[in-house]
Amino acid sequence: MMSIKLLLSVGASLALASPVPAPPSPVLIGRETGHFNASRPNITIFATGGTIAGSAGSSDQTTGYEAGALGVEVLIDAVPQLWNVSNPSGIQFANVGSSEITPEILLNLTQMVQRELDKPECQGVVVTHGTDTLEETAFFLDITLRTDKPVVVVGAMRPATAISADGPINLLEAVTVAAAPAAARRGVMVVLNDRIASAYYTTKTQANAPDTFKSYEQGFLGYLLDIKPVFYFQPALPVGRPYFNVTAAAAEALPQVDILYGYQGLDPKMAEAAVANGAKGLVCTGMGAGSWTRPGQKALAQLAKENGTAVVFSRRTMDGFVESGSVGYGGGFLNPQKARYTLMLALNAGYDDEKMHALFESQSPS
Ligand SMILES: *[C@@H]1O[C@H](CO)[C@@H](O)[C@H](O)[C@H]1NC(C)=O
Ligand SMILES: *[C@@H]1O[C@H](CO)[C@@H](O)[C@H](O)[C@H]1NC(C)=O
Ligand SMILES: *[C@@H]1O[C@H](CO)[C@@H](O)[C@H](O)[C@H]1NC(C)=O
Ligand SMILES: *[C@@H]1O[C@H](CO)[C@@H](O)[C@H](O)[C@H]1NC(C)=O
Ligand SMILES: *[C@@H]1O[C@H](CO)[C@@H](O)[C@H](O)[C@H]1NC(C)=O
Ligand SMILES: *[C@@H]1O[C@H](CO)[C@@H](O)[C@H](O)[C@H]1NC(C)=O
Repeated sequence: MMSIKLLLSVGASLALASPVPAPPSPVLIGRETGHFNASRPNITIFATGGTIAGSAGSSDQTTGYEAGALGVEVLIDAVPQLWNVSNPSGIQFANVGSSEITPEILLNLTQMVQRELDKPECQGVVVTHGTDTLEETAFFLDITLRTDKPVVVVGAMRPATAISADGPINLLEAVTVAAAPAAARRGVMVVLNDRIASAYYTTKTQANAPDTFKSYEQGFLGYLLDIKPVFYFQPALPVGRPYFNVTAAAAEALPQVDILYGYQGLDPKMAEAAVANGAKGLVCTGMGAGSWTRPGQKALAQLAKENGTAVVFSRRTMDGFVESGSVGYGGGFLNPQKARYTLMLALNAGYDDEKMHALFESQSPS
């Protein structure tokens, strides 16, 4: 129906040599064909794959399908109502399940999204993504983008071929939110299941059901009624949300940070093994408010002292605050996967001990 043209300049920059396979060349579909309505906002959709682009053999199959099977043009064509609220345009950034997204890919994504947001003719951005690691990408974008324009990350829990697939309505709601002036200056948002959530706080809470993205403590920013966004609050940003400028960072830049899990009788050697394997930082998924076994703490203290390993404590409970103790930094309200990207970006920015404390303790009670 619509013609697809290659965006050669971007394709060429992605093709530069790298140990990580470059994502497929982006394609642009939509308003570039000259098909646009000057009184509607221009929304650019970066498609990365996932269930929202997933295809299964039958309509009652909601597991075991192929993620990232459908292109962005198929997603846009499936929802003609997108043209009612926006002039959509699609960039096929990648087409993979979200477990294949890497820090290198995210660096490229955030750089491309920032360039798009910097264009006066772009009013908002939507990123389609697999839900398994969606919160990692949304959080990474939240702390690396500098914009007042709405940025929405969206996914689906049921493949496009399923009966009652949630992808089309989620995409329409995401684009509607990205096109809404009321969605500006709220940081990156996650839209699924008629809810608008802050990327900073939301997490996937359910492995199968569409009602999965939640932040139990901080709640939602708003919801969608008749596909129209309703916000509960005036625009606000998460307290203590940092900004890391990675617009010029090389793809290999981010240091390795591994996540360790806390449990009864954990083996302290896991921490040493991670450092021997190249980790510059460790995020410890503590029991309760960051607690760790005594032998485990001893091993971490030694790595911090002798090897310069940066250690952050988070928690294996769904919610709660972790404060700094005698070893490392407390991750505050950040869950382990969010603490990990924060630590990677802080190490990349060369933060010293004082800045690390300030960063991780920015949400501490005053
Ligand atoms: C990221 O982009 C850079 C240039 O902007 C390129 O050299 C690199 O290969 C890309 N990496 C990935 C994973 O796309
Ligand atoms: C263009 O968009 C405006 C605002 O949504 C709408 O009122 C108008 O009818 C549209 N024009 C056309 C030709 O579709
Ligand atoms: C929205 O788009 C659909 C499909 O293009 C069209 O049939 C419908 O009339 C539109 N609704 C509004 C309110 O513009
Ligand atoms: C939307 O995009 C079109 C095509 O690139 C451009 O001509 C138009 O000015 C843009 N609209 C706004 C409001 O920026
Ligand atoms: C980010 O850094 C680049 C240079 O690397 C600079 O041009 C740009 O203005 C910076 N952006 C912000 C928001 O500070
Ligand atoms: C940490 O540093 C000490 C002292 O330099 C060294 O002996 C040890 O091998 C290092 N440990 C790891 C896991 O790299």
